[in-house]
Amino acid sequence: MRAGIGKPAMALGAVGIGAVAVAAGWALWPGEPAGVADPADAEQVSLGAAVYREHCASCHGARLEGQPDWRIRKPDGRLPAPPHDESGHTWHHPDEHLFRITKYGLQPPLAPDGYKSDMLAFKGVLLDAEIWATLAFIKSQWPPKVQARQPKGISQ
Ligand code: HEC
Repeated sequence: MRAGIGKPAMALGAVGIGAVAVAAGWALWPGEPAGVADPADAEQVSLGAAVYREHCASCHGARLEGQPDWRIRKPDGRLPAPPHDESGHTWHHPDEHLFRITKYGLQPPLAPDGYKSDMLAFKGVLLDAEIWATLAFIKSQWPPKVQARQPKGISQ
C-alpha cells in the first residue's frame, strides 16, 4: 500500500486494528509462546510499572492518560498516543494483540501495510517478559468491570 498519509482510507487508527486483525486472520503470525499479563500478580505489576515509567510514559502519559486530542491526526498524518486507561480503547484488544503491537509496532495484520505510526516496536529493547509485565501493569489500572470486559481471546 502506498504511504497514504492523511488519506481518509487510512483513518483507522487503533480503533480499526481489531477489524483488520479479524479480517487478516491470526494464522498470519508464526507461533510464539504466549505469555500471561496478570493484573493480580503484584510482582509482575510492579516490574511492569517500572518498564512503563521508563519506556511508555513519555508518550502514553505518566497516568496512562495519553496525549491531548489523541483521536485527531497530527499535521504529519500520524495519530497521537492514545490513553491506556479505561478512557482509551486498549482494553478493547485481547492481550495477544497488545503484546504484538508493543513488540512489533503497528504492522500487518494489525495495521495496513505501510501504515505510518509513531508507536515504537520494542523488539530488541524489552524482553517478552517485560512486555507482558507492562501489560499486566496497564490492566491493573483498569476498574474491575473494564478488566472483565476486555476480550479474552483472539477470536473475540
Ligand atoms: C514515541 C511515543 C510512544 C512510546 C514511547 C510508546 N508508544 Fe505506544 N503508541 C504510540 C502512538 C502514537 C500510538 C498510536 C499509533 C496509531 O494508532 O497510529 C500508540 C499505540 C499503542 C498501542 C495500541 C493502543 C490501542 O489502544 O489500540 C499499544 C498497545 C501501545 N501503544 C503500547 C505501548 C507500550 C506498552 C509502550 C511502552 C513499552 C509504548 N506503547 C510506548 C506512541 C508511543
